Amino acid sequence: MEVFRNIRGVSEWVQEQKAEGRSIGFVPTMGALHRAHLELVRRAGAENDAVVCSIFVNPIQFNNPEDLRKYPRTLDADLAKLSGTGCSAVFCPGEKEMYPEKENKHYNFGHLDKVMEGKYRRGHFNGVAIAVDRLFRIVRPHRAYFGEKDYQQLQVIKAMTHMEGHPVEIVPCPTIRENDGLAMSSRNIRLSPRQREEAPRIYNALLDAKKAISEGKATSIDQVRDDAISFINTSPELRVEYFEIVDPESLLPVKNTRDAAGAVGCIAVYAGDVRLIDNLPFN
Ligand code: PAF
Repeated sequence: MEVFRNIRGVSEWVQEQKAEGRSIGFVPTMGALHRAHLELVRRAGAENDAVVCSIFVNPIQFNNPEDLRKYPRTLDADLAKLSGTGCSAVFCPGEKEMYPEKENKHYNFGHLDKVMEGKYRRGHFNGVAIAVDRLFRIVRPHRAYFGEKDYQQLQVIKAMTHMEGHPVEIVPCPTIRENDGLAMSSRNIRLSPRQREEAPRIYNALLDAKKAISEGKATSIDQVRDDAISFINTSPELRVEYFEIVDPESLLPVKNTRDAAGAVGCIAVYAGDVRLIDNLPFN
């Protein structure tokens, strides 16, 4: 497995692979890799001749400096995990390499980046879009793999890819869960034992909401939302930031329980200062 810290190295390597007719699958990450990342790498390996994984904690997508400071950085362990997963090359640039100058680009995604995560993490998706655009220009992959756990991020990246005209197929991959239903996340390692015990309430609340909608038991969207929020907030360890039931493409809130059958439930919850997100399609 090749490890590149600069743009020139990885670009030349990709060029050589392409010259030999190899397809490139790409998995962008911020490191602290867990089983869900490795699943993305495995899938990319099954569908492409070579796999590039990037590891870069992207400062411009953090709206909270404390969150950036506490984000786990585990490069050596990450490289060890990747080398056993069929990854061909890793790109792990420093901040100066990715952003030699201050980045001023501003995307207009309409309401896509204003609702839910966008509302509570101002500028977050602009920072994600800038980083992924830059990585696509460096790696020039045929396919790029993203987890559906970050559902809104996936929609924003699809929009950015279209706007920039990147010839990349965006491949959404199902959320990977722990046995008790908690969605895998790099942030889970920061949960205290008590918070970790309570965190599966998030997925259970999503399942209950889906059940209420699909069985026609819900009288209104507000009722489904209130039930989910109070179920989670009953735990002293957890506090819901938002729970929205939205159209899968526009991400606008659905207005009635009939439309909710094809919607997605999206949620953000604080466990202490650890922010967890999850979602569940209701169809
Ligand atoms: O999902 C992530 O890990 C990041 O948002 C991404 C896509 C690597 C961009 O920094």
